[in-house]
Amino acid sequence: MLTGRIITVGIAGGIAAYKSAELVSGLVKAKAKVRVIMTEGAQNFIRPMTFSALTGNAVFTDMFADNHGGVTHIELAQNADLLVVAPATANIIGKVANGIADDMLSTVILAASCEVVFCPAMNTVMYKNPVVQQNIKKLRQLGYAFIGPNSGQLACGSTGPGRMSEPHEILHHIKQMFTAGDLEGVKILVSAGPTREPIDPVRYISNRSSGKMGYSIAKAARDRGAKVVLVSGPVNLPPPEGVTVIKVETALQMRRAMLENFPDSDVVIKSAAVADYRPKSVSDKKIKKSHDPMVLAMEKNPDILAELGRMKGNQVLVGFAAETGKLDEYARLKLRQKNLDLLVANDVSVPGAGFDVDTNIVKIFNRNGTVIDLPMMTKEEVAKHILDLVARYRSEQSGE
Ligand code: PMT
Repeated sequence: MLTGRIITVGIAGGIAAYKSAELVSGLVKAKAKVRVIMTEGAQNFIRPMTFSALTGNAVFTDMFADNHGGVTHIELAQNADLLVVAPATANIIGKVANGIADDMLSTVILAASCEVVFCPAMNTVMYKNPVVQQNIKKLRQLGYAFIGPNSGQLACGSTGPGRMSEPHEILHHIKQMFTAGDLEGVKILVSAGPTREPIDPVRYISNRSSGKMGYSIAKAARDRGAKVVLVSGPVNLPPPEGVTVIKVETALQMRRAMLENFPDSDVVIKSAAVADYRPKSVSDKKIKKSHDPMVLAMEKNPDILAELGRMKGNQVLVGFAAETGKLDEYARLKLRQKNLDLLVANDVSVPGAGFDVDTNIVKIFNRNGTVIDLPMMTKEEVAKHILDLVARYRSEQSGE
């Protein structure tokens, strides 16, 4: 998604400049064309040679000494898809907020026609200084974007906001900026969380699903411009803004909500952990304890996903498979039996995968036979991969 994008990284004079090497390296690995501008201050912390070695390009340091042909600062400003300033010191933020262009970086920022993102890094007291805060507010109002800063221990020994976001966080945001909008107007129905099957007014049967996987998908789809309906079992997560949330408890309620919203949807992603069985009868009074063993008669819940698979026309249908062994075998079986386009399989017995953790380890099976095997990553990142595949599947389907 960053392949061939021209990203200019501006490095100002702060200790966090050393982290910019990792950011630049990440951008290069993501196949972006990276150009680096350094202020005089930045060169006190890290040498230009590091960045020329990482990017394979000369580093721009001086308005007048650099002669790369043409009017360098204008060429740099006009021919970039994104300008990232990391670290963005109080000084560079102040200069831009006040229209000062007295070196290569500040001049390129003022002349830029692409989006400009600042990644602030400075001492906490400086960051909280009302002058800096006013400058940041002014830049935000003018349409400049900000990533971070994070809070934590700073190089100067103080603790608080002012630490530059980690390179992987900045990279993640940048990637999101380039995917934003590729699902514009697409209607996506997502299911998340567990179902609860009541036994009596105080007891139920459920599972360990936290909803994190499904909520991450819903939020990522929203960020890419989709119109998202999220059918959610009972979870402890705040409803994502900008997403229509339908709360349900039981598998039968989830089925109804999914069937109602299915005809209108372009894509359905079913990450919910639906109970396969429910108690055959639900007592309307609390069942009293006795000395006898208790036997609970259960009946089968409908398989909602299989039902959607039978109904589906052009919609892209994505299922999940939670397994504890024979992952590939069961995944391929579910993909075929439920008539799915994509199936996201996770072995929930592996630490860091599946239920109630922030990460997942998934294999994504495509009905065309391809399989993508992803390493452990956050559920947000898994969501992004799933949506990349959905977007690609849709464009292949429409012959684009
Ligand atoms: O919520 P988290 O804590 O973040 O955990 C994420 C997760 C482990 C719940 C998620 O990654 C996951 O694996 N979801 C699917 C869980 C599941 O029910 O898997 P399954 O293999 O039993 O079901 C296969 C598919 O059929 C699933 O898409 C499921 O939603 C669907 N199904 C299952 C039973 C049923 N009666 N109706 C269904 O629609």
